[in-house]
Amino acid sequence: MSVVVALAVTPPRETGPGLRKLTYFVACSIDGFIGDPKGDATSMYSYVTGEFLEYLTSQYPETVAAPAWPVVGIEPGTPGRRFDTVIQGLGSYRLGLDAGVTSPYAHLREYVATRSLTESPDPNVELIADDLVGRIRELKAEEGGLDIWLCGGSTVAGELIEEIDELIIKTYPEVYGSGMPMFGAGFEPRAFELGAVRAFDNGVLVRTYTRKR
Ligand SMILES: NC(=O)c1ccc[n+]([C@@H]2O[C@H](COP(=O)([O-])OP(=O)(O)OC[C@H]3O[C@@H](n4cnc5c(N)ncnc54)[C@H](OP(=O)(O)O)[C@@H]3O)[C@@H](O)[C@H]2O)c1
Repeated sequence: MSVVVALAVTPPRETGPGLRKLTYFVACSIDGFIGDPKGDATSMYSYVTGEFLEYLTSQYPETVAAPAWPVVGIEPGTPGRRFDTVIQGLGSYRLGLDAGVTSPYAHLREYVATRSLTESPDPNVELIADDLVGRIRELKAEEGGLDIWLCGGSTVAGELIEEIDELIIKTYPEVYGSGMPMFGAGFEPRAFELGAVRAFDNGVLVRTYTRKR
């Protein structure tokens, strides 16, 4: 049984021009690291079970990499609930690429920020080499559709920090001590408003925050 703390309920998103949000949906340790110093987050995987796994696969199926769908029981063709687009940096995309997965989120429109990769390894993946912020603003300004998932990693999240409208932070009950920060950005306090909070029996906490503008 989960502990649900409904401090506020995030209302369904309205659709319309300029209302697509950029949401950093990310996993981290208690002390805010998204992985070890090189970004490896495999210690978090052991918590993705039971009730929390059921929550992820039912509420955010589109954030599960396509090769894992049959493993976690997501039916082929399951529509995204929150996102229709994903942006990640080459550092994150390379994890799948090195394993031969050229389109990890084939059910979404995929964008990869890179200046070194000049040819996309997959027809579903569009590379962004120039004006990353400008391209994200264009995507946010599109009419209708679902939101844009900022997958990470730290470098790209740091570059897009001012464009982020929402944070969905999955906190795993581990302290790392050091590691890859959630944002590779300079110090500056930025205010966010707390929305829904959900705690799971295994100690995972999911918090939603909206950027105060
Ligand atoms: N815990 C989580 O939820 C989570 C989520 C995602 C990722 N991660 C971890 O994060 C790690 C990767 O993070 P990272 O910070 O090393 O890399 P990253 O942010 O994924 O990618 C960095 C790369 O993106 C490209 N890039 C950055 N800014 C750009 C810009 N303005 N225009 C064009 N390209 C740009 C550059 O590629 P080029 O060098 O080609 O120019 C840069 O090397 C991985 O180990 C992954 O496990 C964790």
